[in-house]
Amino acid sequence: MEYERPQFYHVMQYAADADGDVIDMVSGNPDWEPPAALRDGLREYADADPADFQYPPSEGLVDLRAEIADRRNVDPERVVVTNGTGEANYLAMAGALDRDAGDEVLLTDPVYPYYPGKASMLGAETTLVPTERDGSLDPERFREAASDDTALIVVNTPNNPTGTVYDRETMRALADLAEEVDATLLADEVYDHFDFTGGFESALTLDSDRTIVTTGYSKSMAITGFRVGYAVFPEDLVGSAKTRHMLVNVATSRPAQYAVLRALRGTDADYYAGARELLSQRVETFTDALDAAGAEYTSPDGAFYVLARFDGFPGTMANAERLVDEAGVAGMPGETFGTTRSEWLRFALVTPRVEEAAARLTDYFG
Ligand SMILES: Cc1ncc(COP(=O)(O)O)c(C=O)c1O
Repeated sequence: MEYERPQFYHVMQYAADADGDVIDMVSGNPDWEPPAALRDGLREYADADPADFQYPPSEGLVDLRAEIADRRNVDPERVVVTNGTGEANYLAMAGALDRDAGDEVLLTDPVYPYYPGKASMLGAETTLVPTERDGSLDPERFREAASDDTALIVVNTPNNPTGTVYDRETMRALADLAEEVDATLLADEVYDHFDFTGGFESALTLDSDRTIVTTGYSKSMAITGFRVGYAVFPEDLVGSAKTRHMLVNVATSRPAQYAVLRALRGTDADYYAGARELLSQRVETFTDALDAAGAEYTSPDGAFYVLARFDGFPGTMANAERLVDEAGVAGMPGETFGTTRSEWLRFALVTPRVEEAAARLTDYFG
């Protein structure tokens, strides 16, 4: 079977192999400090008893699941701690497709490419439903696309790559649609701490028994290498998700879970606000430069990506490579996010060199 391999690594490798200095705006790896309590947790863990270096409970450390459940106001039994949001999404998609409710997955266009990749790996058919030019999503379009064969609707909010934060009404309409057509709604909320509007509300608050919510600490704690995330399942899907997680992974890394728990307990709101503030400033710097370069661009309400469209320079892989070679800036081609943003390039603002990158783009296109 041929799997769809996401192109992120290709662009990162191309940039790493380039002759000159290249500013990496491809990856979603935060460049700022993790919470101090996370480093404390790691230090503590180094001196723990050998018993603490053995398998944790498969579905996650008891105290971590309890902490998550308490914060999210859900039964701890519905929480599965996973190897990042990536695994949480996989478990959610597999569970929704295992229900014999159909083989079709509805995805947004533009789409985070790992969703169609996972869907095809799971043997599902995918249908891309275009979002509006401003990134917003019209649930009616999903209703029109839905059929008896629809098993799953996947959305990501705050959104990568558009930066859109879907409002509660939109998420409610999608959850209602899932209930009506006997499908599951998966809300990937990995950027939940990067909402610049203050209006983001988790789909957990919809209290729908056809909705799975996933998120993780990769972005919010700046630890993409730790691989800790989780999913909150409806009661009827959680048992098989725990089994699948156990069969595939045995468990999630214990020291990483320990440090995350320590960080959850020891980090106040200022830490997260500081990261948001840093990103807001970067968005401003970067979009000011895009203005100077005569580009069209998105001003994200959430997450940390900017889409830019330069006249006569569509978002193809060839152009992304040209930008690496000729401007010294690496971004993702829009064509890798479905069909609707093929004119655009996506830049991740998780580098301290945003200002320099902006100047390079202005020089190149200006
Ligand atoms: C929309 C989306 N979901 C999931 C992930 C993966 O997150 P994690 O590192 O928690 O697996 C990413 C990473 O960039 C993402 O953009």
